[in-house]
Amino acid sequence: MNAVEIQELKKTFDGENYVLKGLNLQIEKGNIACIIGFSGTGKSVLLKHLLGLYKPSSGVISILGKNIADLQDSEMSSFRCNFGVLFQDAALFDDMSTLENVMFPINEYRKDLSYKERKELASAKLDQVGLGKEHFNKLPSQVSGGMRKRVGLARAIALDPDIILYDEPTTGLDPIMTEMVDDLILSTHRSRTGITSIVITHDLHAAFRLGDEIAMLDKGKVLLKGTAEDFFNTDIDLVKRFVEKGVKKT
Ligand SMILES: Nc1ncnc2c1ncn2[C@@H]1O[C@H](COP(=O)(O)OP(=O)(O)OP(=O)(O)O)[C@@H](O)[C@H]1O
Ligand SMILES: [Mg+2]
Repeated sequence: MNAVEIQELKKTFDGENYVLKGLNLQIEKGNIACIIGFSGTGKSVLLKHLLGLYKPSSGVISILGKNIADLQDSEMSSFRCNFGVLFQDAALFDDMSTLENVMFPINEYRKDLSYKERKELASAKLDQVGLGKEHFNKLPSQVSGGMRKRVGLARAIALDPDIILYDEPTTGLDPIMTEMVDDLILSTHRSRTGITSIVITHDLHAAFRLGDEIAMLDKGKVLLKGTAEDFFNTDIDLVKRFVEKGVKKT
């Protein structure tokens, strides 16, 4: 079964210039899919379509077998429970403790639980991503960048989503922290069967290490989709250049 199925997705913001130009992509349930590509090729626009934040100009997006165009706005908001998103800068609430940050979606969607249960659930998620209890009452500004990533990830997985989206999870991090975040993506992915992880990244090493499948976007379409091996063996010039640059850089 495909977690994500995109057919001929086109998107224009001004009615004239197309950012996505007939994009086709399938992501198998249970896989880690990495989406790579040069800057400005539409990766973030694609991500926002998956979350229902942008509407396609044409084409079909199905997620977990549901055509998301069929969902009303109110249904879309509950459908979003299927998603966990780790934004690039973790996007935490500055004036809430790390624990309160993780409790935020739980408070919103798990009103069936008591306060104590919600707090326990949030603690368990922070524990799962390896954040020590001594940091639970600190503000995001009082913990390190790596810890903020952990908090962001704990919040992303708070509702046990089936699909986890990572938007440039390691951009701007040092090599040690990059490896730590990549490890965290892997361990989170493996923490439950059936999770689908979608990682948008500039980091080719991460894509090759994490990705069961890798899709390279170019000019609003998928230029190549395959395994790391397919990327090394390709004849497509632009992919070769991307691979050479990515491998040379580190
Ligand atoms: N809301 C918007 N309105 C108009 N144009 C947009 C909007 N969002 C994105 N675009 C355009 O769509 C194109 C693709 O942008 P996108 O952010 O998806 O690139 P990207 O592949 O994520 O690049 P990067 O690797 O730099 O993050 C860009 O030309 C951008 O200007
Ligand atoms: Mg982007």
